[in-house]
Amino acid sequence: MEIIIQETRQAAADVAARLIAKLITDKPGAVLGLATGSTPLPLYQRLIGMELDWSKITTFNLDEYIGLPRDHPQTYHTFMWENLFNHVNIDAKNIHLPDGNAADIPAFCMEYEERIKTAGGIDLQVLGIGTDGHIGFNEPTSSLASRTRIKTLTEQTCKDNARFFGSGEEVPNHVITMGIGTIMEARTNLLLAFGESKATAIAEAVEGPVTSINPASVLQMHPTVKVCIDAPAASKLQRKDYFRWVYDNKPDWQRI
Ligand code: F6R
Repeated sequence: MEIIIQETRQAAADVAARLIAKLITDKPGAVLGLATGSTPLPLYQRLIGMELDWSKITTFNLDEYIGLPRDHPQTYHTFMWENLFNHVNIDAKNIHLPDGNAADIPAFCMEYEERIKTAGGIDLQVLGIGTDGHIGFNEPTSSLASRTRIKTLTEQTCKDNARFFGSGEEVPNHVITMGIGTIMEARTNLLLAFGESKATAIAEAVEGPVTSINPASVLQMHPTVKVCIDAPAASKLQRKDYFRWVYDNKPDWQRI
């Protein structure tokens, strides 16, 4: 794991954007795994401003609520079009999101896994992290070998996500999510976390034991993980000075 600590969320998102821009430039037909929520917003804004060529890029989103109409303002489908896809020259046929209204969800989940394989696998997966350590919507105790499937959100995650919904509106508690096994097959994982509310989850994921209680901790077993975080999200890391020192002393050829 490479832990990249920047003072602000914008600076951390800029590092992540540079990484993705390099991938898109070096591999115009790259396959990106994408996340939603508040965390990737500064990353997507930065990528839009870079005017990259997305015409051959393929994307797979991590997760989606079950049962919300596709055009509901809070579906991840709507989120992705509003915050990224409408602003870049991506080909709509290369965009993949879990279908929370599929008639046969288990069959859809298997097909989603097949589509990822057929596309050649995910080159780089963008991840946020929940306050309980979830990645995608793999809540604590999810199998570390899980594949795309239905999950039930914890009460805490529903509470965390309620801020996006209108008052009195119910937050769906069932979702489709890529599994942890699916995420672990991405060639690179890029985990972003901003703000003090993520500090405990990040400290446990990076410095704690590998455990399904903090699903993000499994990333310790992945060969290529970059963790781009701001100073508040890094505040509970015991080795934060070491991580800063490593980043500041990178040889020029390794700089992002
Ligand atoms: C969203 C996703 C989730 C979020 C996590 C953090 O696609 O996979 O794991 O990344 O819930 O959400 P925010 O960024 O809103 O704090």
